[in-house]
Amino acid sequence: MSAEVADLLRSMRGVWDEVDVDEWDHALQCAARALDDDADDELVLAAALHDIGHSPLLGGPGVADHSKLAGDWLRPRFGERVAWLAGAHVAAKRHLAAVDADYGAALSPVSKMSLSEQGGSAVDPAFAAHPWCADALQLRRFDDAAKVPGARTASLDTVLAIARRLAR
Ligand SMILES: [Fe+2]
Repeated sequence: MSAEVADLLRSMRGVWDEVDVDEWDHALQCAARALDDDADDELVLAAALHDIGHSPLLGGPGVADHSKLAGDWLRPRFGERVAWLAGAHVAAKRHLAAVDADYGAALSPVSKMSLSEQGGSAVDPAFAAHPWCADALQLRRFDDAAKVPGARTASLDTVLAIARRLAR
């Protein structure tokens, strides 16, 4: 299981969704921001793996609905909460953009552009009422903060240790 996670993360070296960091740095920065926030293991793992839909081993760069691909891959391996949190990172962006004008304005240019392709800002009542909604919004904040060239990253070993603890 952790070998699969390592392969997926390594496969995102040199895969660019954002302008400033590749998906490898983005994933490990996102995990680091979650660890800095004392997030629980499931939230840290979801943070590290939320964009695996962009891996060439799954959907590939630019694939439609990359968040669902991530959730579907994670569910049988790490359970419903990791899967749901990773799968909800686009819904969380749409939600935050709808309720917080400053949030929408501060999104990266790429994220602003993809927001309209993803249906634009919107409050989905099912998402907002979900028991893990607050965690998904946290993950989204880590995600948005994980696009800084040269920023500190979590180590692959740290992420893999968490994956081993959570593996089903
Ligand atoms: Fe992301």
